[in-house]
Amino acid sequence: MNGLTSFTDSANVAVIGASGGIGNAFCDALAEDPAVGKVFAFSRRTLERDGNGLTWQPIDIEDENTIERAADSVGETPLDLVLVLTGILHEGELRPERRMSELAPDSIARVFAINTIGPTLVAKHFLPKLRRDAKTVFAALSARVGSIGDNRLGGWASYRASKAALNQFVRTLSIEHARRRPKSVVVSLHPGTVRTSLSEPFTARTPAEKLFTPEQSAGYLLEVIDRLGPDDTGGFFAWDGTRIEY
Ligand SMILES: NC(=O)c1ccc[n+]([C@@H]2O[C@H](COP(=O)([O-])OP(=O)(O)OC[C@H]3O[C@@H](n4cnc5c(N)ncnc54)[C@H](OP(=O)(O)O)[C@@H]3O)[C@@H](O)[C@H]2O)c1
Repeated sequence: MNGLTSFTDSANVAVIGASGGIGNAFCDALAEDPAVGKVFAFSRRTLERDGNGLTWQPIDIEDENTIERAADSVGETPLDLVLVLTGILHEGELRPERRMSELAPDSIARVFAINTIGPTLVAKHFLPKLRRDAKTVFAALSARVGSIGDNRLGGWASYRASKAALNQFVRTLSIEHARRRPKSVVVSLHPGTVRTSLSEPFTARTPAEKLFTPEQSAGYLLEVIDRLGPDDTGGFFAWDGTRIEY
């Protein structure tokens, strides 16, 4: 990635989920990009990095008050890019379901709280912070397995459904947002299969060439983000820029 070229000269970016595998890699790439102005990094876990244009604030996407405070902390700075890089696939005893007998209301609710409701509330509070006079992008990390049309294997029901529902929220909000900001792009992105703690228990059989480092994935996604235009708003795109069916 050679740096962002399609935004204002000194693009201001908000990164929600900066402590994650992919989140950290995005922060590194953005901090090195001369086309980037301020980076507002938000995460639940304390981020031991500051400076070089990056400031950190806490956020818990299960608590709307903290999302609102995070958006307020940006102040009057107009944002060019908002990245939502949070999510869960497993947590403690919670594992993606292999069969329907494993479906449990608490687990389904937990996965939806983090993968669907949290990013949607982030959109509610951060979309109004995006500038009106130039291209802007709001991108939330979804997953290819959230595609309903592409679901041929079954399994992982809660994770799949939480991402499909996220995609519908993204699509719906993109339409309303475009009425006020015609240059805006609001999308879901699939980062590829990426070596992080989220994917770690499930990648033993992933061929090496299909398993990206977080740095690779962030680089690919920044290229996709740089190429997207208003006609793409409401879409679902993979790390290589190809459109994924809903
Ligand atoms: N890795 C892959 O192969 C892959 C493939 C497809 C899609 N994705 C998607 O990519 C996104 C990032 O995943 P990753 O691989 O980077 O996973 P990761 O390393 O586990 O990072 C997940 C991030 O989500 C944050 N998070 C979880 N619950 C939160 C909450 N309530 N409030 C605030 N932050 C919260 C975590 O914060 P803490 O640090 O505080 O725990 C962490 O920063 C996810 O949406 C995932 O579904 C990943």
